[in-house]
Amino acid sequence: MYSRITGTGSYLPPHVVTNADLEKIVDTTDEWIRTRSGIERRHHVGEGETTSTMCIEAARRAIEMAGIAASDIDFIVVGTCTPDQVFPNVGTMVQAALGISDTPAFSVETACSGFIYALSIADKFIRTGEAKCALVIGADALSKLLNWQDRSTCVLFGDGAGAVILQASEEPGILTTVVSADGKYRDLLQCQYGPSRGYDALIKGEAAGVEMKGAEVFKVAVNTLSALVDQTLEKAGVDRSAVDWLVPHQANLRIIQAAAKKLGLPMEQVVVTVQDHGNTSSASIPLALDRAVRDGRIQKGQMLLLEAFGGGFTWGSALLKF
Ligand code: ACO
Repeated sequence: MYSRITGTGSYLPPHVVTNADLEKIVDTTDEWIRTRSGIERRHHVGEGETTSTMCIEAARRAIEMAGIAASDIDFIVVGTCTPDQVFPNVGTMVQAALGISDTPAFSVETACSGFIYALSIADKFIRTGEAKCALVIGADALSKLLNWQDRSTCVLFGDGAGAVILQASEEPGILTTVVSADGKYRDLLQCQYGPSRGYDALIKGEAAGVEMKGAEVFKVAVNTLSALVDQTLEKAGVDRSAVDWLVPHQANLRIIQAAAKKLGLPMEQVVVTVQDHGNTSSASIPLALDRAVRDGRIQKGQMLLLEAFGGGFTWGSALLKF
């Protein structure tokens, strides 16, 4: 038994913030942002929008593409580090909005690799027969956690959500997933405040939100993702030449190019959307996947390699037949 993606969907808030807009807020330039990161614009949540409202839209679109009824879903997992509330979790909010009840619904907080962790968990539930139709979402509203005095981070992130429907199938779908982490890198990328630590300062705006040592993150990300590609292909017993599309975490164009080079893939076989939405954390892979599916680049039966890297550090990959 395999789990197979049968529908994808995504949502970006309508409010677009261009590099030119940011030039008016912080000491930066469109040229710096584009050459260092590849980002040209990003979307920010507006009035009344939250992580769960973005998830619900993305989920509805994925359900429609899969041609299922919401009531067919028997497992819900959301990767996010920016939940609406401390509890209940975002998964249950999506569940209620879709009119579903009596299914597992939860979220995982592994920063930018949240979607891959969520996908890996859902795959296990389907393979063991405990679930037949999973809704897997990656969503974040990191604009809410950014420090607008810190030009080195506030220009990089955006908000969004992406979802997939994962169904039990005898036809090959997900061939393997790899998830891992190394907590010793905590200080390189973090939002160091939460409900059990320094929350007052964060709420009052006295504390910095996202903090990142960019150049150091860059080095570890490139090395880790390179090793991850080999590990994933080896685990699945698949040759790199079989990969049709790389769908990487959209953090920085230069990191994406390094991963493609390592895989020996020309950039024409890499889905790149970072220019349009910046780093949307957990949402970035399912957003990129949805775009390439809907514009016809990714076709049924093709081999996809998904890979992510995020705060923690956490990282993960999925090799699958679409
Ligand atoms: N505009 C103009 N100048 C800036 C800006 C800005 N927005 N931000 C920083 N600078 C300046 C710095 O102050 C520094 O100036 P100095 O040399 O006078 O001190 C100079 O630009 C160079 O800064 P670096 O940090 O060395 O620039 P770098 O080439 O490393 O690019 C970047 C920075 C884009 C953050 C890069 O390091 C990067 O992408 N790192 C990885 C980040 C990443 O992938 N994070 C996500 C992974 S995990 C996740 O998704 C949560």
